[in-house]
Amino acid sequence: MLKHVYINKLSQHVGEEVTLKGWLYNKRASGKLKFLILRDGSGYCQCVVFKGNVSEEVFELSGSFSQESSFQVTGKVKEEARSVGGYELDVTDLKIISSAEEYPITPKDHGIEFLIDHRHLWLRSKRQVAIMKIRHRIVKAIRDFFDSRDFTLMDPPIITPNACEGTSTLFEMDYFDLGKAYLTQSGQLYGEAGAMALGKIYTFGPTFRAEKSKTRRHLTEFWMIEPEMAFYELEDNMDLAEEFLEYVVQSVLKDKQEELEVLGRDTSKLECVKRPFPRVSYDEAVEILKKNGVDFEWGNDFGGGDETIISNEFDRPVMVHRYPSAIKAFYMKRDPERDEVALAVDVLAPEGYGEIIGGSQREDNMDLLLERIKEHDLPQDFFEWYLDLRRYGSVPHSGFGLGLERLITWICGIEHIREAIPFPRMIYRNTP
Ligand code: 4AD
Ligand code: MG
Repeated sequence: MLKHVYINKLSQHVGEEVTLKGWLYNKRASGKLKFLILRDGSGYCQCVVFKGNVSEEVFELSGSFSQESSFQVTGKVKEEARSVGGYELDVTDLKIISSAEEYPITPKDHGIEFLIDHRHLWLRSKRQVAIMKIRHRIVKAIRDFFDSRDFTLMDPPIITPNACEGTSTLFEMDYFDLGKAYLTQSGQLYGEAGAMALGKIYTFGPTFRAEKSKTRRHLTEFWMIEPEMAFYELEDNMDLAEEFLEYVVQSVLKDKQEELEVLGRDTSKLECVKRPFPRVSYDEAVEILKKNGVDFEWGNDFGGGDETIISNEFDRPVMVHRYPSAIKAFYMKRDPERDEVALAVDVLAPEGYGEIIGGSQREDNMDLLLERIKEHDLPQDFFEWYLDLRRYGSVPHSGFGLGLERLITWICGIEHIREAIPFPRMIYRNTP
């Protein structure tokens, strides 16, 4: 057998004979010619079987196997601008590895429930492959961004003894003789310990919310990136968030044009994701809602529809800061000039994609933090270690959390968050 090469490396083998291995994506025949589209995960290649170039046996074989059968094919690489991927293989030999049963996902339209039931196979489609490749590029951009700015990656625990983001969305479990434990909602509290040890850290891991909402923005298991920085105040936090988002979006635009095209993404909408991002206070955001005819009462949280109205005013992500403290988490520092608002920031994506980042400056005063823990009815003994961070050399510090799948959904321009993660977990789904 000749050298096995991947489709995305065919440009280095023009004129040579090589072997490709993969699955049958599509086929058609026309007289003495058979056209097999092979996919191998790195790309798609049309393999042309001409009756005069192969044995009788291989010619028969090439028309006989079905969609998603695995096979290997040998032939000469030639440039062909009109063909998918820009290259073609003039087949000289072909071998079936495993002939597939009738494949359940056909080119006809399937309902979404059918497709998610077959998620393990649906992942093979062109669209899903494009989304997964963009996801991978986004993850790399995120890591490159923080790694090149002296942040240390720190992994927080997944099993935790207490809530971080409110008790209503906790997944609970029995933890041996120690009572209840919970799946983490956020690595932040541990990230704060890390920032006091390492200066600037980021966490990157799975987080869990027993979300009872059935929306296109909610998963019960999602991945979060949470930078936490000692000596950062709210403004520094916002500067970092906008630099970060610009970097990630521009990296994807630079390297993933082909995949964005598969998704039919209007990339002009992403090109303008450049600093500076607009910054509006919660008060100003409420004014935007009123101006648009929404009957909104100061003090309420924004719903998805409100977020869309606010973000529609801008062509790039908007940072909304200083929310009412009453609707925000216990750890957020209050504005020293205005106690009723917290030094919080949410970043809302454009085009109605909603909140992608939530963050804040943290309460660094021991007594005030203790007060908040009591106000929020949280068990103080579980927070003693967290209070230690204020007892021993407390400093101003800030951070934020980015929901990876929300970011992917927006960048890919897709309808629903379920396509942004390989195997989505939602209130009504935990399979396959
Ligand atoms: O706004 P949240 O709840 O903030 C925190 O968890 C903070 N502890 C972060 C921090 O300051 N370190 O969540 C942060 C982000 C949201 O903006 C959203 O993008 C995403 O996490 N998110 C979800 N994504 C998918 N499904 C869900 N159910 C989500 N809940 C939050
Ligand atoms: Mg939030």
